Amino acid sequence: MRFSFVCLASSLLLNSVYSNSISLENESKIVKLSFNKTYGDSFNTSSQSNKPLFKRSNDYEEVQLTNEQSFYSVELDIGTPVQSVVVLIDTGSSDLWITGSNNPLCGSSSSDDETIDCSTYGTFDINSSSTYHSNDTSFEITYGDGSYASGGWGQDVIALSDVNVTGVSFAVANYTNSTVGVLGIGLPSLETTFSGSSTNAPYQYANLPIVLRESDLISKTAYSLYLDNADAAHGSILFGAVDHSKYYGNLNTIPIVNVYRDQGYLEPIEFDVTLQGMGISTTDEDITITQSQIRVLLDSGTTISYMPTDLVSLIAQSIGATYSPALNFYVTRCLPENDETELVFDFGGFHITAPLRDFLIPTSTSYSQCMFAMVPQSYGTFILGDVFLTHVYAVYDLESYEISLAQADYSNDDENIEVISSTVPGATRAASYSNTWSRTESIVAGGNIFTLDSNSTTSTATNINSSGSTRSRSSGTTRSSSTPSDSRSTNDQNILGLPTALLTVSALILTLLL
Ligand SMILES: *[C@@H]1O[C@H](CO)[C@@H](O)[C@H](O)[C@H]1NC(C)=O
Ligand SMILES: *[C@@H]1O[C@H](CO)[C@@H](O)[C@H](O)[C@H]1NC(C)=O
Ligand SMILES: *[C@@H]1O[C@H](CO)[C@@H](O)[C@H](O)[C@H]1NC(C)=O
Ligand SMILES: *[C@@H]1O[C@H](CO)[C@@H](O)[C@H](O)[C@H]1NC(C)=O
Ligand SMILES: *[C@@H]1O[C@H](CO)[C@@H](O)[C@H](O)[C@H]1NC(C)=O
Ligand SMILES: *[C@@H]1O[C@H](CO)[C@@H](O)[C@H](O)[C@H]1NC(C)=O
Ligand SMILES: *[C@@H]1O[C@H](CO)[C@@H](O)[C@H](O)[C@H]1NC(C)=O
Ligand SMILES: *[C@@H]1O[C@H](CO)[C@@H](O)[C@H](O)[C@H]1NC(C)=O
Ligand SMILES: *[C@@H]1O[C@H](CO)[C@@H](O)[C@H](O)[C@H]1NC(C)=O
Ligand SMILES: *[C@@H]1O[C@H](CO)[C@@H](O)[C@H](O)[C@H]1NC(C)=O
Repeated sequence: MRFSFVCLASSLLLNSVYSNSISLENESKIVKLSFNKTYGDSFNTSSQSNKPLFKRSNDYEEVQLTNEQSFYSVELDIGTPVQSVVVLIDTGSSDLWITGSNNPLCGSSSSDDETIDCSTYGTFDINSSSTYHSNDTSFEITYGDGSYASGGWGQDVIALSDVNVTGVSFAVANYTNSTVGVLGIGLPSLETTFSGSSTNAPYQYANLPIVLRESDLISKTAYSLYLDNADAAHGSILFGAVDHSKYYGNLNTIPIVNVYRDQGYLEPIEFDVTLQGMGISTTDEDITITQSQIRVLLDSGTTISYMPTDLVSLIAQSIGATYSPALNFYVTRCLPENDETELVFDFGGFHITAPLRDFLIPTSTSYSQCMFAMVPQSYGTFILGDVFLTHVYAVYDLESYEISLAQADYSNDDENIEVISSTVPGATRAASYSNTWSRTESIVAGGNIFTLDSNSTTSTATNINSSGSTRSRSSGTTRSSSTPSDSRSTNDQNILGLPTALLTVSALILTLLL
């Protein structure tokens, strides 16, 4: 089973236990969850070997991007005796729901178009668990692709390796046409009981990350997400701790931006941060594209990126890509394996880099032409998804509303784990921590993002001039190659103007009415 919450005690932790005479009880305040990564257009057809690619959809020139979604699946053992169900872990939603055994759409009768196969990922029979308690409240969720789930809330024990976690609220869907449930580990303001459409008396409840904290299984409601490289089959989430062996340089902390304050949310509801600039590094020069602030959603559920039209246009100019109106993408020649051009993402005094190569998706089997996997979008939520996030080690602090980022290190199989008890250990505030996005402004070309001090992941730079300035490249950095992230945002807006991508649940987009 993939859902292995393992309590770990690294040597570093043990050292600190003794040297700082920390209570031994802190030693176990780590919960690790490993997941399988797959890619596809829907979960039931996703696989570990899929990659985003173009398919010719008919005899004409029309090509279509496929495998746009990233899925992280884990197996949960719920109830007494345990029943195993596979769910998708999702930072873009905040509720755990699973399919009930009485879902009338489960079945194998091919006569009914609506029937789904529930046997592969499992269902939960509330009557077969002696420890299940219904909350007698209803649950409902609808996704952008039309999938839906409805049922009732309840509580039961969830077995996580060597501990039983009690008091976890989850919904059992007695009516759903999705073959797989979802373990949402996002912020509590995004719980359907609080922000969902059918909510007359909104309230928040303790979701799994909060229950782990309240049960003292972890010391802070925070977790580290390691997606490994783009080709890896597995990744992991470490609740309550940081693994220092999985990144280069320092962790840099930036605030989560509350972009929905105007709509009455007192706290952030999703993982939006401020991108403070972008650049391109080649072996001989560093080019700043812009230093304009862009609000970006870090979303592991999508494969490519969706960024402002003007920004994508500037990058395209720099890399020699041309716009294809038919595709609404930029296309360019594909790059050889050894190409060292990197996209540089500045988050306010520190950089995350990703090889340009990773943002190029072949549009044909001849590899002669590639799509630039940063889709221009004129409005809505801009997203850095999986292709970017595979290059970062990210610590999500749900109590302090902060995210700490560092360049991911895929090469280290060791663990160097430290508990998060107050601030994230090893993390320092980014130089421009306070300089957060406040409103959308037009993208201004130029500036210089390459003036970082020697502490940053990227090297120091000479001063450069405004648009298209360059500097000479400093000596070798420790950056690993990485791929760009992407995520999926649609141009849809719901009636309240909330971008639907706000509620991305893996492949699915939750539409919600406030
Ligand atoms: C141990 O955990 C407690 C919270 O459970 C925290 O207050 C304390 O600071 C931790 N000790 C150390 C040294 O991390
Ligand atoms: C996967 O789900 C889609 C609906 O999203 C359905 O049309 C298709 O038949 C399913 N495929 C399999 C193999 O179950
Ligand atoms: C994860 O993948 C392994 C094979 O690599 C498989 O045995 C296991 O069932 C998968 N688990 C989930 C939750 O998909
Ligand atoms: C559970 O048992 C009750 C009472 O016997 C029954 O009404 C209900 O349909 C059962 N639910 C499931 C999911 O089997
Ligand atoms: C569920 O039903 C809706 C509406 O009929 C449909 O749009 C959607 O594709 C279905 N989803 C699946 C996974 O079958
Ligand atoms: C499904 O669950 C809801 C909420 O618990 C309940 O009101 C409804 O009667 C259930 N429907 C069926 C068919 O069991
Ligand atoms: C968890 O609960 C199950 C069923 O009650 C029990 O068999 C198991 O020993 C428990 N595990 C722990 C670590 O307490
Ligand atoms: C379910 O009931 C428990 C106990 O009353 C409560 O703590 C929890 O918040 C409820 N969960 C939901 C989702 O309403
Ligand atoms: C570099 O980091 C060290 C220790 O973290 C700090 O003392 C120093 O001020 C930093 N240098 C700059 C220029 O920020
Ligand atoms: C910036 O470039 C302009 C012309 O391109 C030049 O005149 C000016 O001296 C440069 N400024 C700096 C600080 O290099």
